[in-house]
Amino acid sequence: MKQRQVIVDTDKCIGCGLCRNVCVAHNLVIHDKKAKIVLDECVMCGQCSAVCPKRAISLVGCGSGQMEKAGDARLAPDDILNTIRFRRSVRSFQETEIPQRVIEQILEAGRLTHTAKNMQDVSYVVLTAGKDRVEKMAVTLFRAIKPVANLFSPMTRNNQISDQFFFFSAPAVIVILAKDKTNGVLAAQNMEFVAEANGLGVLYSGFFTMAANMSRKIKKEIGVPKGKKVAMTLVLGYPNVKFLRSTPHKELEVRYM
Ligand SMILES: Cc1cc2nc3c(=O)[nH]c(=O)nc-3n(C[C@H](O)[C@H](O)[C@H](O)COP(=O)(O)O)c2cc1C
Repeated sequence: MKQRQVIVDTDKCIGCGLCRNVCVAHNLVIHDKKAKIVLDECVMCGQCSAVCPKRAISLVGCGSGQMEKAGDARLAPDDILNTIRFRRSVRSFQETEIPQRVIEQILEAGRLTHTAKNMQDVSYVVLTAGKDRVEKMAVTLFRAIKPVANLFSPMTRNNQISDQFFFFSAPAVIVILAKDKTNGVLAAQNMEFVAEANGLGVLYSGFFTMAANMSRKIKKEIGVPKGKKVAMTLVLGYPNVKFLRSTPHKELEVRYM
């Protein structure tokens, strides 16, 4: 048997063709009133098994955890828009630790996020106890390169690299690793929403992401495997700041053609 395989249970299959209709790879045909797999190679997206009314299709070697969908309830569009409108980058945190179950729920949001070609290439490093050591390495690197950066940016000249420059004394940091940066960044956004829904504040640390990708030492310390890079870094904690209103945004720039 192949490592990853789509299997049709022909006893259960009623030949309705729903699986064939959703298959992006055109890898299913209906033959003698039964679904049939054409090639063993496909993206293993699992849509065929998710749409089957008879649960006749299973995927092996692709992970577990398929859940039945209860009803068609949707979030209100205005609620989603307001979540986006009022989320803010947080740079001041309470000392309160984040419960493990909350961290796990945030990681679950990342795990469930879609990836290009269904690569599922995203993994995570949660920094708690090791956070200060890793931040120190990034601080040392940035202090070393600051004189050069100062030449190009007045904002850099105006800023000191403090010991908390990257993580702002937050109780936890999640470093997101991926082969494809876009996949990691999409996971980050979903994770931010789940973190916010749990009352947490979040900061995307582009600076730590940059420092980690520049430094072999940091990559080794946090364990970035070959072929992956740091896609994004989420700094997390209960906020010590309360924003009273949204912030100004540029006018929408759009062209309909
Ligand atoms: C990809 C990305 C990287 C960022 N990196 C940093 C960072 O390293 N340090 C920081 O203080 N803020 C960082 N930010 C926060 C932005 O400065 C912030 O999103 C922007 O000023 C708008 O503010 P708001 O998030 O409160 O709406 C980053 C944001 C994004 C989207």
